[in-house]
Amino acid sequence: MAAAGLRRSPVIPCLVLAAVCASVLGLGEDLDRPLFGPPGSPIRLHESDPGLKKALQFAEERYNRGSNAMHLRRVSRVISATKQLVKGIRYTITVELSNTQCKKSAMLRTCDFYPEAHKLKTEVCVFEVWDIPWQGTSTLLKQKCQAKAEPQMDETNKAEDPSSSAHMEESVKLLGQFKEFMVKYNKVYSSQEETDRRLQIFHENLRTAEKIQSLDQGSAEYGVTKFSDLTEEEFRSSYLNPLLSQWTLHRPMKPAPPAKEPAPASWDWRDHGAVSSVKNQGMCGSCWAFSVTGNIEGQWFLKNGTLLSLSEQELVDCDGVDQACRGGLPSNAYEAIEKLGGLETESDYSYTGRKQRCDFTSGKVAAYINSSVELSKDEKEIAAWLAENGPVSVALNAFAMQFYRKGVSHPLKIFCNPWMIDHAVLMVGYGARNGVPFWAIKNSWGEDYGEQGYYYLYRGSNACGINKMCSSAVVN
Ligand SMILES: *[C@@H]1O[C@H](CO)[C@@H](O)[C@H](O)[C@H]1NC(C)=O
Ligand SMILES: *[C@@H]1O[C@H](CO)[C@@H](O)[C@H](O)[C@H]1NC(C)=O
Repeated sequence: MAAAGLRRSPVIPCLVLAAVCASVLGLGEDLDRPLFGPPGSPIRLHESDPGLKKALQFAEERYNRGSNAMHLRRVSRVISATKQLVKGIRYTITVELSNTQCKKSAMLRTCDFYPEAHKLKTEVCVFEVWDIPWQGTSTLLKQKCQAKAEPQMDETNKAEDPSSSAHMEESVKLLGQFKEFMVKYNKVYSSQEETDRRLQIFHENLRTAEKIQSLDQGSAEYGVTKFSDLTEEEFRSSYLNPLLSQWTLHRPMKPAPPAKEPAPASWDWRDHGAVSSVKNQGMCGSCWAFSVTGNIEGQWFLKNGTLLSLSEQELVDCDGVDQACRGGLPSNAYEAIEKLGGLETESDYSYTGRKQRCDFTSGKVAAYINSSVELSKDEKEIAAWLAENGPVSVALNAFAMQFYRKGVSHPLKIFCNPWMIDHAVLMVGYGARNGVPFWAIKNSWGEDYGEQGYYYLYRGSNACGINKMCSSAVVN
């Protein structure tokens, strides 16, 4: 963890990108670069270069801090070194590191190497150090080490301290994943402390994802998502909707008339033009508004033949019963829309993700509803109703969603309490994948979430409370 040297946030993304690209090249990169190249290209350095010496000291210190080895290890040979002018200087250094006779706790600079070759445990390491002299900062962008292949005289002493190299390998891997994550999702942190804290959270979340993965009964893959640097608390308050658990307190809605036919084996409203593209609620607990507009977009399409993208912001601003970015209930939203007289389009009343003054104009209403209904809690009846009537507003326990990447998610019931409903989404279809029955669920966390913005949940066991809160608007 000590090697977590990502520093000074505003420039991190591009530098991290550089480091990630460079790391693809592997050990020994830059060795064959010319001495001089175009401006900005790496320049080979002599061992006596003062900047290099300083960078080496820094890398050595970080290296020792990040390892569990008992002895202090130092650079025993510089294989190659280059520097590149970026914002500051980026050093790429390939060296050998070996054991000294000093115990680590001593941390002396004068420690001698072991005279016996077999005790040296020499490793070849590539370091990348980013130095910003005028800020007095150094950052270890990369550290990649492997044991030096050499004939061993004494086989009995060959084994390296396994905890040290395993630990090192793990931290390097974690750092790599974290950098990749920052680049992919454009993450920028305000300080070194913040970066370290996010890395810590990222690490914990990876472990949680592994746990969910190992206990999933479906075919889902969990791992790094764009929410991997958020604590559960942050995720909950920004993306979920605490009000939904109070669903039982809502005024009962009219029951939906049951479907006339049994459910076909599979159905997907995306194939029938009733579903708009995936939207993004941002850092606002407005999932309920997206769930409802998605449903009305479908209802309007089936009534009118035109697929519109309807306004969530109108609900965030003008639905006085619900709580804007702090949650809401679809049942309230339907009523609010009836009272207002309808919904404007997304382009007329665009999403900002903040509650603002209501700016609704009845002249701009693009779709209206006449009433709303609550569906059966039987998954078979829900499927039949969906196939006949359009996408359904549903809510669920989103526990496994923070870490979901793809596949059919089927979390254990103890992880996904059906009574702890905290997220509203849009059910657009169902079917089976390799014999595993699923619901296709349109989420509002952007297209870079899950499978192109969609979440697939196991169908048939009321997983995560998916059957508890199904409703729809009615357009006459
Ligand atoms: C669909 O809605 C538009 C706009 O409100 C309206 O002009 C059109 O007549 C409607 N079409 C149908 C088939 O209802
Ligand atoms: C449905 O609501 C619209 C808009 O409020 C209204 O103009 C229409 O008459 C209603 N239709 C029925 C059948 O009540």
